[in-house]
Amino acid sequence: MDKKDVLILGIESSCDETAASVVRNGREILSDIIASQADFHEQYGGVVPELASRMHVDAIYPCIDSALKEAGVALEDIDAVAVTYGPGLVGALLVGLSAAKGLCLASGKPLVGVNHLHGHICANYLCFPELEPEFLCLCVSGGNTQIVHVKSYRDLEILGKTRDDAAGEAIDKIARVIGLGYPGGPKMDKAGQIGDIHAYEFPRNHMGDTLDFSFSGIKTAALNLINQSRQKDEEINISDFAASYQHHIANILVEHTVKASERTGIRQICLAGGVSANSFLRKAFDEASLKHDLKLYYPKLRLCTDNAAMIASAGYYEYIGGRRDELSLNASPSLKLQRQYA
Ligand code: KG4
Repeated sequence: MDKKDVLILGIESSCDETAASVVRNGREILSDIIASQADFHEQYGGVVPELASRMHVDAIYPCIDSALKEAGVALEDIDAVAVTYGPGLVGALLVGLSAAKGLCLASGKPLVGVNHLHGHICANYLCFPELEPEFLCLCVSGGNTQIVHVKSYRDLEILGKTRDDAAGEAIDKIARVIGLGYPGGPKMDKAGQIGDIHAYEFPRNHMGDTLDFSFSGIKTAALNLINQSRQKDEEINISDFAASYQHHIANILVEHTVKASERTGIRQICLAGGVSANSFLRKAFDEASLKHDLKLYYPKLRLCTDNAAMIASAGYYEYIGGRRDELSLNASPSLKLQRQYA
């Protein structure tokens, strides 16, 4: 291993995935271990926070051990431990954070706190060696929807964000109501594949001149359509409904991103977060890229959803930028992606 290489151990436990990874120089994944609890929470129709925390406790050290082993390194070889400290479920975050602090205390390695949303953006660096700021990133996950101007590795500005529900939440909720279960996003995506995107109509929320989003009205309109059909004893066509709904949401996400590109003059567009796996969104972006001459970056599906490699990558840029955290660093469940990296 080159002496100048920087190795970061990344740890992630903000929701229902326990994950650990070793990444070299912010770009090269040496190991990427994920213990997902999704199958377990399926029986409850969503993540049960207390159970998630307990399962993280069981999984965290085996994940870290496997990540180090698979990377062929020992804790002494690591330059810093990067850990998600927010946003996320407080109990879940505390498990990863406590494990990271324990490792730092025992080894003397520096602790680097990472914003989970910054991690999602950095998944793109792991997939595209040539990618460098500046670019725009549409971050779409279960809890967040925002357009971020990535000015440099650590200088991030939010250009637009949702004022209510995240796109993922709007999809997950409707998936549950039409009986597709949890996790709704991938199931809606699959259900919509053979559907007609023009079969159902949904409203648009006008957000004036801003780049902000609003999905709660669209979600309510979808719920009303479902309830009205049920009252009339009519069946909604699940594939048509899933296709129309996702097509509608995807178009809004793409339109705002294109507007952001026109305003900033930036043509490099990255996607990040779980919903960026959505095929309707990718199709809408593919079409827009031809029309508006955009260069698109889609991270690999495995790196779109929660993982620790993206945390190690973000941790690398924080580490070389000088960030060091005290062992008193606390979990921050509502942590915002602001200019804290500037
Ligand atoms: O980024 P992520 O793993 O977790 C956070 O919210 O941080 O994103 C999870 C979200 C969920 O809402 C899930 O339903 C959604 O990503 N998702 C999808 C797809 N795959 C995952 N949504 C739509 N289509 C998909 N193919």
